[in-house]
Amino acid sequence: MKLLFLFLLVGVSWASYVKMKEVQPEQIHLSFGDATNEIVVTWSTFAQAKSKVLYGVHQTNKVAVGGSTVFVDSGKEKRKQWIHKVTLKDLAHDTKYVYKAGSDSGYSEQFSFKTPPAGEDYPLRIAIYGDMGVNNSMALPFLKRDVSLGLYDFILHVGDFAYDMYEENGRVGDHFMNMIQPLAANLPYMTCPGNHESAYNFSHYSHRFSMPGARSSLFYSFDAGAAHFVSISTEVYYFTQYGLKLISDQYQWLRDDLKRASSPENRRKRPWIIVFGHRPMYCSNSDDIDCSVEYTRVGLYGFYALEPLLKEYGVDIALWAHEHSYERTWPLYDGQMYNGTTHPYTDPG
Ligand SMILES: *[C@@H]1O[C@H](CO)[C@@H](O)[C@H](O)[C@H]1NC(C)=O
Ligand SMILES: *[C@@H]1O[C@H](CO)[C@@H](O)[C@H](O)[C@H]1NC(C)=O
Ligand SMILES: *[C@@H]1O[C@H](CO)[C@@H](O)[C@H](O)[C@H]1NC(C)=O
Ligand SMILES: [Fe+2]
Repeated sequence: MKLLFLFLLVGVSWASYVKMKEVQPEQIHLSFGDATNEIVVTWSTFAQAKSKVLYGVHQTNKVAVGGSTVFVDSGKEKRKQWIHKVTLKDLAHDTKYVYKAGSDSGYSEQFSFKTPPAGEDYPLRIAIYGDMGVNNSMALPFLKRDVSLGLYDFILHVGDFAYDMYEENGRVGDHFMNMIQPLAANLPYMTCPGNHESAYNFSHYSHRFSMPGARSSLFYSFDAGAAHFVSISTEVYYFTQYGLKLISDQYQWLRDDLKRASSPENRRKRPWIIVFGHRPMYCSNSDDIDCSVEYTRVGLYGFYALEPLLKEYGVDIALWAHEHSYERTWPLYDGQMYNGTTHPYTDPG
């Protein structure tokens, strides 16, 4: 009887330990909301829990409440996690905040972030890269150091995460999100999808990241400083099994977005338009088809070509990833290099 009682006690506390662990927040990361003084906090738990963020300037004396959705990986195990999103609205600009994410069943350690200054007239400091996995992520220690020194306003991860997030029934994705937490819990981690996110119709990408606008969309834009940033999915041109409509939807959205961003009034405020997407329009690597089959640049059989669209609205910079090499080009259009003027970058002719 005594033994049984003891056994029951151990059983009960083991169960409560597991329960406690399941509601402990992990994979905490930030993104910009509808403006740079709005921050979305996203994290995961493995059981249902409330979604709260305790935050403030010096101490966590304010509470913001959000909600969660159940995300089920489409692999064999049908692993389930709750993805929590809480939006911190109307934050002061140029201000450091501290916060903890979780619920009354368990909060995270304390993290901090600094909002960018108000207006447009300040230098943006961004770390930009693509193609970082859980293995051989050699830049990570340097990024951690730089982020802890407050050197960046945000990060742009230009597609291809974890290799791949869906692997091992989504555990590789969880591992990756925890790996980048020291970065992404302390500054906005802005993204676009790459080819390695294609599994199950990009569901790991669209569930795990909370980008502005329609929150699970494959494309969106945001303003920061003197620039308008546009995130596109080059992958809609390649993974056409998920729907050709995505190509025309994105094209129309992009045209409208660029039109708005390049109106005289908006250009005066934010002279720079920066587009980023995963697969490059130009690259000189010799290895594979990606540098010669330029679906995004010239379109699918001539339809929905992006290069003429970017030219029409005067996009200033295009950032790509995918090739695992660093390249910078002179101004280019339609396969021609434009460097014959005195200031080719600002006036390519
Ligand atoms: C990453 O490393 C782990 C452990 O060394 C290994 O099991 C796994 O296969 C590697 N993954 C890739 C994609 O190389
Ligand atoms: C894939 O997801 C997109 C939304 O991101 C949706 O519009 C599309 O219909 C989906 N395709 C399929 C085949 O389910
Ligand atoms: C233009 O680019 C080519 C190839 O990189 C280079 O040889 C040439 O010097 C450049 N012209 C100017 C004016 O910089
Ligand atoms: Fe890639």
